[in-house]
Amino acid sequence: MTERIEPARFAGQTVIVTGAGSGIGRATALRIAREGGRVIAVDISPHNLVDMPGAAAGEFVPIVADVTSEVDISRVIDAAGDRINALANVAGVMDDMTPVGEVSDAVWQRVFTVNVDGVMKLMRAVIPHMIEQGFGTVVNVASEAALRGSAAGAAYTASKHAVVGLTVSSAYMYGPSGIRVNAVAPGPVRTGIETTWGSELGKQRVRASHSIIPKSVDASVLAASITFLLSEDSANINGAVLPSDGGWSAA
Ligand SMILES: NC(=O)c1ccc[n+]([C@@H]2O[C@H](COP(=O)([O-])OP(=O)(O)OC[C@H]3O[C@@H](n4cnc5c(N)ncnc54)[C@H](O)[C@@H]3O)[C@@H](O)[C@H]2O)c1
Repeated sequence: MTERIEPARFAGQTVIVTGAGSGIGRATALRIAREGGRVIAVDISPHNLVDMPGAAAGEFVPIVADVTSEVDISRVIDAAGDRINALANVAGVMDDMTPVGEVSDAVWQRVFTVNVDGVMKLMRAVIPHMIEQGFGTVVNVASEAALRGSAAGAAYTASKHAVVGLTVSSAYMYGPSGIRVNAVAPGPVRTGIETTWGSELGKQRVRASHSIIPKSVDASVLAASITFLLSEDSANINGAVLPSDGGWSAA
């Protein structure tokens, strides 16, 4: 895919992007900055944020923050300032492919804390600003695991279904306030996300579905889908879960 940059698509806009240090979040932050936006680039890893390129039409404001921490989220909101045009909740972690009969409390809690609590807390912090402004867009990154049972273990699959629940509930509740909330469900993407195999049954069952999985894509392909939903280009779309998966969800 060749990115077609629209230099002013996010001009004058402040967009919070979590997970901005790597993979899909980084590609999304870069795309928004190239298109004129001011990006509040949030990541828990300082190392990931150090080499964000400076040459862009917009601006990067790197914030080392944990999306599960209320204190850190306050710093993110302060850095964003009075007007927050959009939020992309991209930060997320994978599980170890364990089915529910084998899942550990540690894996369940880690995955839910980042993938669900983090998304909810950022939305809870940002939505009041958007209500006051009378506009705003939120894009939550779900997964193919939000659409089917064969893509990951119980914790990750349940967490991404919860992301869809947060998305559609908020789209319904805040639509009349001028706020749109959508989700993207990526298929396989080449990023830094780590997959481990903590269960023989999980490995066998998940691998059995591999023949229908399309080839993995560059993170910039997902950035194109996410920025479409963040921007005015998707003005009539609210509460959608957009598979960006090369057709995996059609199989
Ligand atoms: N890569 C894929 O194939 C794929 C497929 C479907 C969905 N996703 C989803 O896409 C999103 C991005 O994943 P990615 O593949 O780009 O992964 P990645 O590991 O490359 O990037 C995730 C980033 O999030 C950051 N992060 C993790 N926990 C955080 C926290 N508590 N606070 C702040 N930042 C935190 C990490 O430091 C990292 O920089 C995730 O929600 C993931 O579930 C990825």
